[in-house]
Amino acid sequence: MFTGAIYSNARLATLAPALPGLGLVDDGAILVSDGRIVFAGPSSELPGSAVPPAAVRIDCEGRLVTPGLIDCHTHLVHGGERSAEFELRLKGASYQEIARTGGGINATVAATRQATDDALFATASARLARLVADGVTTVEIKSGYGLDLATEARMLRVARRLGRERDVSVLTTFLGAHALPPEARGDKDGYIRLVAEMLPALAAEGLIDAVDGFCEGIAFSPSQIGRVFDAAAALGLPLKLHADQLSDGGGAALAARYRALSADHLEYASEGGAAAMAASGTVAVLLPGAYYFLRETQAPPVEAFRRHGVRLAVATDCNPGTSPLLSLLTAMNMAATLFRLSVEECLAGVTREAARSLGIADQVGTLEAGKWCDLAIWDAERPAELVCRIGGGPLHARVRRGLRTGA
Ligand code: NIG
Ligand code: FE
Repeated sequence: MFTGAIYSNARLATLAPALPGLGLVDDGAILVSDGRIVFAGPSSELPGSAVPPAAVRIDCEGRLVTPGLIDCHTHLVHGGERSAEFELRLKGASYQEIARTGGGINATVAATRQATDDALFATASARLARLVADGVTTVEIKSGYGLDLATEARMLRVARRLGRERDVSVLTTFLGAHALPPEARGDKDGYIRLVAEMLPALAAEGLIDAVDGFCEGIAFSPSQIGRVFDAAAALGLPLKLHADQLSDGGGAALAARYRALSADHLEYASEGGAAAMAASGTVAVLLPGAYYFLRETQAPPVEAFRRHGVRLAVATDCNPGTSPLLSLLTAMNMAATLFRLSVEECLAGVTREAARSLGIADQVGTLEAGKWCDLAIWDAERPAELVCRIGGGPLHARVRRGLRTGA
């Protein structure tokens, strides 16, 4: 029996690479079977006889339909909150100063180690519900607030549980090389050895979809990150990198050298870094929430990325210290306003390019036959409406793997 549906009378933004811009189709239809798109395109190209009689018929009433949104960089699972640091920064303290005096990431590490699995699940689940309310159907979640094997594993298991128990696809990223924990007593090389040793067990348990690191003066050097990447690559795991966020540490070039899926942040990335990323196909994940919240003044070199042909993705970076942002639509607005991305770049950045940055471009991110039927249906006609608002997103309905359900 046919278990599918036909969405008709839709204004599609297919994001199909073969079409120009957003791949808009004014009078569009989507035929879905077993959760996958069978056809997405002009209604005129789908004769009524091609639609099985058993198909459920959904009239989109002229609404804009995009691929389900993909938040490709988050730190959703963590204990505690850091509003006291926000107040310190308002009084003039810098993020780096706070980190050096034991606050910053390590404050969240302490809170995460103390939290029970159920508490981590409950708080992350509440945050996830906010993202989902803006049309997100896929989310990446990093570890990196455990910094010991047991707590990193707990974080990743909570992320996997979110994927099982909530209506959203979850990809996990192991970020053991996020900061130096206090018990390492200043021994960064020793801790990096430990991180490399954590990898096989976590990978064997199926907890790792990608491996990330924080390449920065207050975190780890390119050669230290390189050792983690070597260990990850030996296990066949894809790579990502927090690169050149607070200074130019050669992170973009490092990510490119390892053919990482993405390099993220990139405010201080160089022209050479952009060229290297283009050559390796490494996606630039822009995180305007962190730029805004840290009151950064140097924007990432978007013009250089465009010139070299680097793909641009946009994400919330949702985390308690530098980007407590729970709306991917607002992240798009910030990317447009603060980084001068076009509406097309913003929308591609939270769909097609976000999928590419996670290595799942063959599964989601565009409305094309063969992909999962993940949709966001909007009470909007123009794509720019999704980017120009701040708060109160116009989501009408969300479909994941062909099913229309809540979070
Ligand atoms: O993506 N840059 C490093 N990691 C996070 C911040 C984490 C934190 O401060 O808790 C980021 O901005
Ligand atoms: Fe981050």
